[in-house]
Amino acid sequence: MPPSLPDDAPQQRRKLFIKSFGCQMNAYDAQRMADMLRPEGYEQAQSVQDADLIVLNTCHIREKATEKVYSELGMLREMKDQRSATANPLRVAVAGCVAQAEGAEIFRRTDLVDLVVGPQSYHHLPQQLRDVARGQRVIETEFPVDDKFAHLVTPQADVIARRGLSAFVTVQEGCDKFCSFCVVPYTRGMEVSRPIEAIIAEVERLAQHGVREITLLGQNVNAWHGLAAGGNNIGLAGLMARLAEIPGILRLRYTTSHPLDMDDDLIAAHRDLPQLMPFLHLPVQAGSDAILKAMNRRHTAAHYLDLVARLRAARPDIALSSDFIVGFPGETEADFAATLALAEAVQFASTFFFKYSARPGTPGADLPGQVPEEVKIERLARLQALVEAQRHAFNESMIGKTLPVLFEKPGRHPGQITGKSPYLQPVHVEAPASAIGHELDVMITSTSTNSLFGHRAAPLTLPE
Ligand code: 5AD
Ligand code: SF4
Repeated sequence: MPPSLPDDAPQQRRKLFIKSFGCQMNAYDAQRMADMLRPEGYEQAQSVQDADLIVLNTCHIREKATEKVYSELGMLREMKDQRSATANPLRVAVAGCVAQAEGAEIFRRTDLVDLVVGPQSYHHLPQQLRDVARGQRVIETEFPVDDKFAHLVTPQADVIARRGLSAFVTVQEGCDKFCSFCVVPYTRGMEVSRPIEAIIAEVERLAQHGVREITLLGQNVNAWHGLAAGGNNIGLAGLMARLAEIPGILRLRYTTSHPLDMDDDLIAAHRDLPQLMPFLHLPVQAGSDAILKAMNRRHTAAHYLDLVARLRAARPDIALSSDFIVGFPGETEADFAATLALAEAVQFASTFFFKYSARPGTPGADLPGQVPEEVKIERLARLQALVEAQRHAFNESMIGKTLPVLFEKPGRHPGQITGKSPYLQPVHVEAPASAIGHELDVMITSTSTNSLFGHRAAPLTLPE
């Protein structure tokens, strides 16, 4: 065993490589881990080979997630062995939902891993790594009992500055909807809402340090609820109304939502809150009521279409994106046709689509009528062709429109700057760099596969 280091030993510069899989929550967690480890002397490594600490930030949502992690780990074997006897051994951590789900089983299956850490224990990473440096194998995957949000630490000013204009803020974690295909309720625990004061304090701090756009994050974000100052119960709409008052906050977004929690107040917020961007990710998963029922979604296709109609009535320029699963057990050709019909009726601006994969431990995995792989592939291709055409049409429909663009950085070409439209499309414009950090109107003149191009709608006058 290497000699013990005192906790206050002088800091060594070390290199960190985080390989992140899965959702936006994981991407955000990866940033948080890097932020937390920077004061411990960890800088970002350019490649795996360059790293002293490798974190696999895993996702458990789809196919063979666990096996993929073991195969990723297997690829580190040579590096780990070569450095095992040196003064600078390679450390390997498994984080994220596979860590949460597998726990100590990871240690039993491989000796490559030094640390197994679940998403609600990342705030202990510095201490965990000190224990690892003392030669221990460390595991922490319990859900916290008292302060369920202790792991969310507001970043330091220098970290915020590195982030730029746009930041994620976790307001809710976990899910108790129990869709029959999904592992999230098992890996991320029951639904909990972060208290309003902590959220406001974090957003105020971000705004003071230059953040202009906030995306509220949660696995089931529109289930957020809390107590307002007067003791009243409020939902996400009430929270956003409060956040919109914070000076400097120009844009608000939230993701990911469940149709059942799109209440009247939240729909009205899309009409009443100018800062709330007219772009909503609202997964529907399927268009057949029989499949929605088997998925335990607890809404019908008609319910979803009604929500879309009400959202569009409240905010006519709202655009929608969605998640779809094809090939859920029992899905017939007629069920799939209902999915295509729903997509046709809504006209999505962007879509994520997945082939169903049975997740052990979820009710869907035991359902009869599992759909053959070749049928899933063929249906996915048909859905993809439809929704890609919709995305293309949506981008083309921007031509001739004037959109507010939040300018974030210099463009690829000299004299050009780049920002984001309300619909998260990158927009490239010839304009002075002094416009970066501002939201300005842009007349859209052309599109490419993923971007928009335009010119300033009015002569550039920047606020003092
Ligand atoms: N198989 C396929 N797709 C899935 N998703 C979640 N679980 C599964 C699964 N078992 C998709 C859903 C969800 C998105 C994040 O991942 O569409 O909304
Ligand atoms: Fe999973 Fe359904 Fe919860 Fe979304 S709402 S996280 S799909 S169980």
